[in-house]
Amino acid sequence: MIQQSETEPDMNAMLLRAALLQAVSATLAGAIAWWMGLSLGVWIVLTVLLVGMLTYQSELPRWWMLIQILFLPAMIMLHSLALPAWIYLLAFVFLFAVYGSVFSSRVPLYLSGLPACQALEKLMPVEKNFYFLDIGCGTGSVLQYLDKKFPFGLFHGVETAPIPFSISWLRSKIGKAQFLVRYQNMWHVDLSRYDVVYAFLSPQPMTELWQKVQREMQPGSIFISNSFAVPGVEPDEVIELNSGRARALLVWHIKDKANGEAHE
Ligand SMILES: C[S@@+](CC[C@H](N)C(=O)[O-])C[C@H]1O[C@@H](n2cnc3c(N)ncnc32)[C@H](O)[C@@H]1O
Repeated sequence: MIQQSETEPDMNAMLLRAALLQAVSATLAGAIAWWMGLSLGVWIVLTVLLVGMLTYQSELPRWWMLIQILFLPAMIMLHSLALPAWIYLLAFVFLFAVYGSVFSSRVPLYLSGLPACQALEKLMPVEKNFYFLDIGCGTGSVLQYLDKKFPFGLFHGVETAPIPFSISWLRSKIGKAQFLVRYQNMWHVDLSRYDVVYAFLSPQPMTELWQKVQREMQPGSIFISNSFAVPGVEPDEVIELNSGRARALLVWHIKDKANGEAHE
């Protein structure tokens, strides 16, 4: 069953709490080790045990325990490898280019997958020359799939994360691909020309996105959200997927505001 409103955990607060637990555990273990004259190895073991226990008692999700427990040993192991500093910079730049926008958009990268693409395929208009938009198109996999299936459809995508955008742009240039990808913020796209708008985002932007959809999309067009509900607005159709993160396609048929009917 799809939740109408999903409370998003506050990622910044969780990160801060995790860091605090690491600092408290390392300091406590350090004090015990110093007081009892224990070795560095025992300090590491003590820290790991303490952070595991404190994380278990905290409100952090259970799976964070693994990250918390592995954090210090992983740091020490990496340090012992004596890798050149530029490798860390490179890793940081790469991760930032994929996930950096998450701090403002609250929408990370994860992909729709084949079951979602196949379900989308069945929702495409039967007439020729329809316009489809994937807002936040990631690596362009949805666009590539549908573009192959519907030679008469016009498929567009917008994306703001540099590496996913580059991958989708490259895909759009390969072989017989016809779809178009722009490096553009979804909030700056005019939705009025699109017959189908597809979004696989997060709970965060859904209320504002729905307002945009209502303002701009034309009667008879359809708005599809993968997995994330619009709070307080029932979808007209729900197509269950249950594949990984993609749980269901929620479909809204945009109605004529005057008489409340969708033009097919
Ligand atoms: C969950 S992924 C979905 C990718 C793709 N649509 C799919 O279904 O496979 C969401 C994508 O939206 C992008 N995104 C988030 N906010 C955006 C915005 N304001 N404008 C454009 N893209 C955005 C993210 O960078 C991310 O790549």
